[in-house]
Amino acid sequence: MPAGKRILLIVAGGIAAYKVLELIRRLRERGISVRSVLTRGGAEFVTALSLQALSENKVYTDLFSLTDESEMGHIRLSREADLVVVAPASADILAKMAAGLADDLAATALLATDKPVMVAPAMNTQMWAHAATQANIATLKSRGILTIGPNAGDLACGEVGAGRMSEPHEILAAIEAFFASPAQQPLAGFKALVTSGPTHEAIDPVRYIANRSSGKQGHAIAAALARLGASTTLISGPTRLSNPPGVSLVAVESAREMLTACQAALPADVAVCAAAVADWRVASPANGKLKKKGGKPPALELVENPDILAALSAAGNARPRLVVGFAAETDQVVENAKAKLKRKGCDWIVANDVSSATGTFGGDSNTVHLVSQSGVEDWPPMSKDEVALRLARRIGEQLAALR
Ligand code: PMT
Repeated sequence: MPAGKRILLIVAGGIAAYKVLELIRRLRERGISVRSVLTRGGAEFVTALSLQALSENKVYTDLFSLTDESEMGHIRLSREADLVVVAPASADILAKMAAGLADDLAATALLATDKPVMVAPAMNTQMWAHAATQANIATLKSRGILTIGPNAGDLACGEVGAGRMSEPHEILAAIEAFFASPAQQPLAGFKALVTSGPTHEAIDPVRYIANRSSGKQGHAIAAALARLGASTTLISGPTRLSNPPGVSLVAVESAREMLTACQAALPADVAVCAAAVADWRVASPANGKLKKKGGKPPALELVENPDILAALSAAGNARPRLVVGFAAETDQVVENAKAKLKRKGCDWIVANDVSSATGTFGGDSNTVHLVSQSGVEDWPPMSKDEVALRLARRIGEQLAALR
């Protein structure tokens, strides 16, 4: 873990500024030191005293303060850090960064720094969607600025949509991923593809067939693979989760869309199919909303969906070197998983008991068995994040052995 690293935290104006207090605590717990710059707008939401008490470091606010400058000049301040983090990154500070303005201490430090910069945008959803903000973000990304979030959800202004700053634990994960040294990145140079979440199969324009998958397990796997250095594409059905840091998300709805997206993401070194793909879809979804007719419910004719895991396993030259499937079972978990391994032609199956008593679908924990040609590993009950990290480490070992 990145103990000993130094972060320059720039706190701009926005209600989400209160979340940085938690972020500072978590960073300090990991041995990361934090120096803060508080903008005038930021000071409307959190005090310099709170930042100073939690970071145990002086907080800098003023570009033209003689005391500040004599203690630490703004150029040194901007460079004596391993990473500069802007949280919350308001529309205003993003615009200043894109334009190269230097009209206060925060903007000047951002212009003067020679260190990597990560921004966590937070603003009203219309401001985020505005062409000016999107152009500024695109400019900053093209200059190598790292971004985390924003998330979608309820905003402090009462509106709903994209614009919520990522949660402190998400920003922390992005910072940890950034600091992970090559030794902690056994998957650096490898390409991973992960499927996650449910699929939605249309009945008519307003109704669909779905299942209870939340995407938590698949998203956690994508995050863990990225954290270990893999260039990771996450192909996900509809979920309420935010995009894990450092992962490219391809959002899909149906099984057929998921298959097309997976094929487009090839070549990959490893594919992990954690999605709960609908086995069937409606043969001919109605073009208009189905109406009740004389009390007789409509008969839905179902046809089988393509099997994405089997298709990836049989992809010939494009087949990932390691193809990992999941088996969602309610009984005879390991026996059924062994049969699935053969039937689908994959290399490993992660078998999990999804009977309603386990709460695996939608819950935060999982108990799995790793089934391969060479045997069965029974893993103890753990959180989905822990399952993901252990699986990602096993994948790293396997790909190193196959090199
Ligand atoms: O999303 P969560 O709430 O976190 O829950 C996690 C999970 C229970 C969904 C996950 O751990 C899991 O078990 N995913 C696979 C669910 C499933 O559909 O299992 P299955 O036994 O029906 O399918 C076996 C494998 O074939 C899976 O890898 C599945 O992705 C794949 N498959 C299935 C059907 C299909 N048409 N295409 C596929 O690729």
